[in-house]
Amino acid sequence: QIEKKVEDLLSKMTLEEKIGQMNQISSSGNLEEMSRLIKKGEVGSILNEIDPVRVNALQRLAVEESRLGIPLLIARDVIHGFKTIFPIPLGQAASFNPQIVEDGARVAAKEASSVGIRWTFAPMIDISRDARWGRIAESCGEDTYLTSVMGAAMVKGFQGNSLNDPTSILACAKHFVGYGAVEGGRDYNSTHLTERQLRNDYLPPFEAATKQGAATFMSSFNDNDGVPSSANPFILKTVLRNEWGFDGFVVSDWASIKEMVNHGFCANDKESAMKAVNAGVDMEMVSYTYMNHLKELIKENKVTEKTIDDAVRNILRIKFRMGLFDNPYINGKAPSVMYSPENLAAAKAAATQSAILLKNDNTLPINSSVKTIAVVGPMADAPYEQMGTWAFDGEKAKTQTPLQSLKQLYGDKVQIIYEPALSYTRDKNTENISKAVNAAKKADIVLAFVGEEAILSGEAHCLADLHLLGAQSDLIKALAETGKPLVTVVMAGRPLTIGKEVEMSNSVLYSFHPGTMGGPAIADLLFGKSVPSGKTPVTFPKEVGQIPLYYNHNNTGRPATKKETLLDNIEVGAGQTSLGCTSFYMDAGFDPLFPFGYGLSYTTYKYNNLKLSATEFTPKGQIEVTFDLKNTGKYEGTEVAQLYVRDKVGSVTRPVKELKRFTRVTLKPGETKNISFMLPVEELAFWNIDMKKVVEPGDFTLWVGTNSQEGISADFKVVE
Ligand code: IFM
Repeated sequence: QIEKKVEDLLSKMTLEEKIGQMNQISSSGNLEEMSRLIKKGEVGSILNEIDPVRVNALQRLAVEESRLGIPLLIARDVIHGFKTIFPIPLGQAASFNPQIVEDGARVAAKEASSVGIRWTFAPMIDISRDARWGRIAESCGEDTYLTSVMGAAMVKGFQGNSLNDPTSILACAKHFVGYGAVEGGRDYNSTHLTERQLRNDYLPPFEAATKQGAATFMSSFNDNDGVPSSANPFILKTVLRNEWGFDGFVVSDWASIKEMVNHGFCANDKESAMKAVNAGVDMEMVSYTYMNHLKELIKENKVTEKTIDDAVRNILRIKFRMGLFDNPYINGKAPSVMYSPENLAAAKAAATQSAILLKNDNTLPINSSVKTIAVVGPMADAPYEQMGTWAFDGEKAKTQTPLQSLKQLYGDKVQIIYEPALSYTRDKNTENISKAVNAAKKADIVLAFVGEEAILSGEAHCLADLHLLGAQSDLIKALAETGKPLVTVVMAGRPLTIGKEVEMSNSVLYSFHPGTMGGPAIADLLFGKSVPSGKTPVTFPKEVGQIPLYYNHNNTGRPATKKETLLDNIEVGAGQTSLGCTSFYMDAGFDPLFPFGYGLSYTTYKYNNLKLSATEFTPKGQIEVTFDLKNTGKYEGTEVAQLYVRDKVGSVTRPVKELKRFTRVTLKPGETKNISFMLPVEELAFWNIDMKKVVEPGDFTLWVGTNSQEGISADFKVVE
């Protein structure tokens, strides 16, 4: 039915109208010019228009005043919320809870669609193993499986049960592909991923998004092995269309087609247009090379009409599928869904589950003997900053900060003395630290809110130094020296190298940028009304020089052992003594500050009784894994139980561990639950020496545990 509608419409379109559908313009342009193009049928999509009245007006031009009345697709980066801002995606990933992520995307879709936005550029499912890269904030971290699960959940939330539902917005799986591996963690930089790395580590989240029905894909900015993604037919055609059967459309990143001239991959805009369209980019974001050159390229036989028709088919198919022709306008009379109590509750739940307890000597939760609290630091009352990157539409006035929430929710139980000491996170002025110290001296406990302002992460916001900026570390030191119990809460867009500050603090809660409801979520966690359950979705390095540092690396021929001699222990004049000749840094060792999957609770858990359904499996078999998980502490809590596997020998070297399953388990004090995971052996497949995806028979080890470094294990075999 839809295909027939697409063909009927396509058959009526002029070449100019077809190329027009492939053109996405920004709403920041000249209104008159925009209107002229729309009326001529030369615009397929507009990005960044969020005024519902203007959306309807522009749509009216397309539907009622253009020759064929093809509606516009209105797009916006609705990344972790529209008005109600959820934690940054990296924070959401720390929840290891796909439902939280799906709920967040659903809320975002409902709010955004109410002003006419029907397409978002999310989820961003780039595997991110370099915290210098500002865009790590927008990712689900370093792990392929976690990112696949979370990315699919976001697609589900944005697109709802049917694209046709007016509250659904199209998802866009981005950035296709490898963008997270930019050299040196510097944005837009080149990547050098082999086909095997792409297929084993970087492509699976995109395949999962396709399976979940993601309607659109975005080609990334980077050139991989010398080929910019917007001109790479291997990824856009061979993999995406032929292998995965994707039938939605591909949009370029912002001007990434034109920028192929800067890359030195194309001599001019015309060549860029030719290479991009022939590679499979259906719609161009803002740079007009399609508009300016496709017609001529067809005349010169450098692009075929079939190529154009295929691109337009892909775009129209989605416009029909989402019911845009039947329902192009927004109903301005609908009651506002923004910041509804349900939306705020979902955002609070997400912020609660995203926070990771990195250290606790029992200072937390705050107990009833505490009467006075000193609240200090630049992030305690920074409503804009706690929203994080890509929160254009979130409002400061609606954001609840920790200071506000502590006063509001716990102000009747404790006295709060507030001394920010630093006015923003990069503030180097140490003058007011003494005020915070005086506040600390008067208090029973100190809560220090530090981290990064929103601007320090996100697109093109990369850092070479991951320590706390400004005088924040001086502040922590001065507070620690008071001898008062010190709880450090970090709000940031990435894992920071905070080893020193962790050491100086009694407890550390890492909340990333927690969004609109960060305040009440953190206040309840500090007071024990909620119990922390987040786990690191990315390895925390001790030093920036350890990067890239990720848990599922290969073993090397000389793996480090924890016995290595560090710089400080080398005797003066030791000469050319062998230091063990293993793979480590003399000044930082080889292990991280916190491993992937790590996070504490107010309670403790014990894993026991691991059993596999057999010791040998065939490639078509299923492994049933069962174990007991006991809450051995005093609080009810939720543990993220994780299952990892190692394929001991392969035709190519295999990672030391790979996450294959996880689940959140809620347990009362003393309670034990028997947990079961079903793992099809097929999921142990990888792209092997012959570039085939196979399960290679042999020996495996499987772990279940509380993070990627601790767990109980069992061995099994895969046999032919
Ligand atoms: O969606 C984004 C992309 O992630 C980076 N460049 C701009 C696009 C549109 O705003």
